[in-house]
Amino acid sequence: MFLRARRDRLPMPCPPHPPPHPLPPLPNPPHLSPTPSPRVPPLPLMSHPPTDSFPADETFAVRVEPMDWHFDARSDESLFEAARRAGIRLPTSCRNGTCRACISVLVEGSIRYRVEWPGLSSSEKEEGYLLPCVAVAQSPLVIDVPEAERIEPR
Ligand code: FES
Repeated sequence: MFLRARRDRLPMPCPPHPPPHPLPPLPNPPHLSPTPSPRVPPLPLMSHPPTDSFPADETFAVRVEPMDWHFDARSDESLFEAARRAGIRLPTSCRNGTCRACISVLVEGSIRYRVEWPGLSSSEKEEGYLLPCVAVAQSPLVIDVPEAERIEPR
């Protein structure tokens, strides 16, 4: 009796469905298309030349104050790399111009940066601060880095 009552409450079975028919394939969206659209030119691999593509044909003398240490810096390497090659360790952490652990003072000379946006404000740049991890010598330099240490040259 109990089972019969439950069976009475079950829904009616569905009528038979029509046979499935295949849908036409959807076209690929343009960004997933295996062949590029002729209207969209291919993207260049690099939109800007690398900022570190300067030739290594110049070398500049760098003096580190207040120790009066000296090293030569090529125009294709950062001051940090050049100093390390000469056995001078400048303070560093990120080495990409963002953390500011290497912040120092440019006493004399001119530099350029390997990165487009080094972590210095324009007023800090005007006051003579520099980031040696991404700074490249453009002339003989005098930099003030009291935290510099002597290490084995590399
Ligand atoms: S080491 Fe981080 S900004 Fe120079």
